[in-house]
Amino acid sequence: MTEHWTPASWRSKPAKHMPTDYPDLGEVAKVEQTLRGMPPLVFAGEARQLKARLAEVSEGRAFLLQGGDCAESFKEFHADNIRDTFRLILQMAVVLTFAGGKPVVKVGRMAGQFAKPRSAPIETQGDVTLPSYRGDNINGMEFTEESRRPDPQRLIQAYSQSASTLNLLRAFAHGGYADLHNIHRWTLGFVSDSPQGARYRELADKISESLTFMQAIGVTPQSHPSMHQVDFFTSHEALLLGFEEAMTRVDSTSGQWYDTSAHLVWIGERTRDLDGAHVEFFRGIKNPIGMKCGPTMEGDDLLKLIDVLNPQNEPGRLTLYGRFGYDKIEDRLPRLLKATKAAGRSVVWAIDPMHGNTLTAANGYKTRPFDRILSEVKSFVEICKAEGVHPGGVHLEMTGQNVTECLGGARALSETDLGDRYHTHCDPRLNGEQALELAFLVAEKLKEDRLSEAKRAVAGG
Ligand code: PEP
Ligand code: CO
Repeated sequence: MTEHWTPASWRSKPAKHMPTDYPDLGEVAKVEQTLRGMPPLVFAGEARQLKARLAEVSEGRAFLLQGGDCAESFKEFHADNIRDTFRLILQMAVVLTFAGGKPVVKVGRMAGQFAKPRSAPIETQGDVTLPSYRGDNINGMEFTEESRRPDPQRLIQAYSQSASTLNLLRAFAHGGYADLHNIHRWTLGFVSDSPQGARYRELADKISESLTFMQAIGVTPQSHPSMHQVDFFTSHEALLLGFEEAMTRVDSTSGQWYDTSAHLVWIGERTRDLDGAHVEFFRGIKNPIGMKCGPTMEGDDLLKLIDVLNPQNEPGRLTLYGRFGYDKIEDRLPRLLKATKAAGRSVVWAIDPMHGNTLTAANGYKTRPFDRILSEVKSFVEICKAEGVHPGGVHLEMTGQNVTECLGGARALSETDLGDRYHTHCDPRLNGEQALELAFLVAEKLKEDRLSEAKRAVAGG
């Protein structure tokens, strides 16, 4: 592992979950060459900024909110979809900031979240067996031989879609839309007449009142431009290392390598092998990075991975996403928290309450019960508190669209409702209303935390 690193050194290591059945490898190499010549999607300076924010999270002074589609798709690519998920994140961030009294670092699972690891390489329907769908940047979802054949030109289309998505996100974040004075306008149409909508309006009223007061004493977007915009970052699972390698460039300011495909990239649960290609690639890039930690991980495994991924113990470099399942977290998480704490490793601990809580409904739909998602988040906060670790954030699969993919929530979506608007290209997402409900419930937990911290401070002082 101490061998010389290059953006291509992963190629001599075993790589899991990457397509090996491209009909023409020469064409793949050509596409990667083309991508090498394309402009970066993000700048190294922005990635450093995110790292600094995450360092704040690791020290307990901020909270991470990360979310978006399980898999972005060419079909669902539309300005309205991007706007709706963006404003849902803004709404959730307001709810969390107000309750927790701490800044919320906003990261979209957007502008590059295409490639998917799959549990089975093939899929059978009736008597036909075809390669599995692996994400729109590899093959198509349609169950035909042609669509399922990997096509390297899809990487170019994914790059171009990511660039347009980022362009719009930058405009929303900096062009005035995200101004806190617009807080009432962020309400999503279908959420507005729900219990969450009413609760959100109440909160927005309070914030508007404070803004009026602040304006009266001279604190305005003109005097404080930060009120007029937000910092919004992008992220995805860096699964297709050929693509990521092509996007990895030397930053002229620092002379270091950055993967310019997103501000933050993470290693999935299925590709975190210590001696595998993904860990090799990640150790050399200087972006803030993430890693999923599932139910089979032991404390020692984690510490060995941290030695390789964050040898300098740099705050903000590494975010760990627990994803155990509501019924396993109590058994699995404490040992990992103890390991990082005892060894003095600076990490952000966050929870992905989606991937350990997936099940197949009787009617065949892959779904997730809202109660279980919520229960895993609550357990996360409680276990962190008991272990003296900051519950740093949540990582969610969600959309601003009014989909029917996860069961439950305030409208009690049932199995028979799933077929109404089941649009996901991969895993089931929380819809806008369910995501906002989750934000309110997490906010209550954070508020309890804040109040007990304040009490302790008073007692101690
Ligand atoms: C994902 O985040 O979509 C994913 C595949 O998660 P995991 O690696 O945790 O299974
Ligand atoms: Co997923």
